[in-house]
Amino acid sequence: MTSDNDRRRGLFARLRGRPAARSRGRRRLGAAVRLLAALMLAGGAYTAFAPSVQAQDTQMSGAATDGKALFNESCVSCHGRNAQGVEGRGPSLVGVGSASVEFQVGTGRMPMVRQEAQAPRKPPVFSDDEIRQLGQYIQELGGGPEVPAGEDLHKGGNLAAGGELFRINCSQCHAFGGGGGALSSGKYAPSLKPATDRQIYAAMLSGPQNMPVFGDNQITPEQKADIIAYIQENLNHNQDPGGFNLGRYGPSTEGLAIFLVGIVALVFTTLWIAGKS
Ligand code: HEC
Ligand code: HEC
Repeated sequence: MTSDNDRRRGLFARLRGRPAARSRGRRRLGAAVRLLAALMLAGGAYTAFAPSVQAQDTQMSGAATDGKALFNESCVSCHGRNAQGVEGRGPSLVGVGSASVEFQVGTGRMPMVRQEAQAPRKPPVFSDDEIRQLGQYIQELGGGPEVPAGEDLHKGGNLAAGGELFRINCSQCHAFGGGGGALSSGKYAPSLKPATDRQIYAAMLSGPQNMPVFGDNQITPEQKADIIAYIQENLNHNQDPGGFNLGRYGPSTEGLAIFLVGIVALVFTTLWIAGKS
C-alpha cells in the first residue's frame, strides 16, 4: 500500500501534466475503485427508480385496496392473482373498466358459480359499496370504460329518439318490447325489465357476451340517456291497456293465443249444443 504522502505526490504530478509512474498494483487498485464507483452509481440509480415501482401498490386508493381484498377472496380462482385471467377458467379483466365489473357483479352474473355458456342474472352477492370497490380496483389496475355518476341516468332523455335508437340497435336481440329472445348456441338476450339505469348504461359500454359494445363514439352519452329513458319509461313502466301483454312477442303469439282460446270455446260450445239435443 502507498502512503498518504506518496498518493498526494502522485496527484500533484498528474495535475502538473507529468506522467505518474504507476505500478501494476496501483492500476489494479484504480480499476477496482472505478468499478466500485460504477456499482455505486448503478445502485444509486436503482434506489432512485425503485420507490416508484413499489409505490404502485400504495398509490391505489382506499376503495381499490378494499376491492382488491374482495377480489382475492372471490374472483382470483378464475381471473388470476392480478386479474390477468386464468386459461380455461376466466378472461383477463385488465382494461375492461369498472363498467364491466358493475354490470357483471351488479346483475349477480359474477362471481360465476359454475362454468356454463352464459352466466344468468341472479340476486347480487355483493353490496353496492363492495361492487364499487371491486370496480375501482379493476379501474385502477388497467383503466377502461366507466359509468357516469348518479342513479338516474335518463333524466331529460328524449323518448321518441330513444325508441328510434332502440329499434335500430337493440330490438333485433332484445325484441321490440324488451322482453328478450333466444340467440344461437343456447345463448339468449335477456329481458330488460330488471335492469337499472346504471346496468343498462354499463351493458352498452361493456358489451357482455354476444352483445356489441356501444362506445360513446357509436352512441353518444345523450343518446344513451334517450335509450334508457325509452326502456325504463316506455317499455318497463307502461301499463298494457289490453290486459295481458303475452310477452310482447308480436303477432304470432297473439295469433296463437286467440287460436287456442277460440278452439277451446268452440269445442265447449259444440259439446254444449250436443248435450242439449
Ligand atoms: C367460476 C369462475 C369465475 C369466478 C369465480 C368469477 N368469474 Fe368473472 N368471468 C368468468 C368467465 C368464464 C367469464 C366470461 C364469460 C362471460 O362473459 O359470461 C367472466 C367474465 C367476467 C367479466 C367480464 C369481462 C369482460 O370482458 O367484460 C367481469 C368484469 C368479471 N368476470 C368479474 C368477476 C368478478 C369481479 C368476480 C369476483 C366477484 C368474478 N368475475 C368471479 C368466470 C368467473
Ligand atoms: C347481438 C345481440 C344484442 C344486441 C344488438 C344488444 N344486446 Fe343487450 N344483451 C345481449 C346479450 C347476449 C346479453 C346477455 C349477456 C350476458 O348474459 O352476459 C345482453 C344483455 C343486456 C342487458 C342486461 C340485462 C340484464 O340481465 O339485466 C342490458 C341492459 C342490455 N343488454 C341492453 C342493450 C341495449 C340498450 C342495446 C341496444 C343499444 C342492446 N342491449 C343490444 C345481446 C344484445
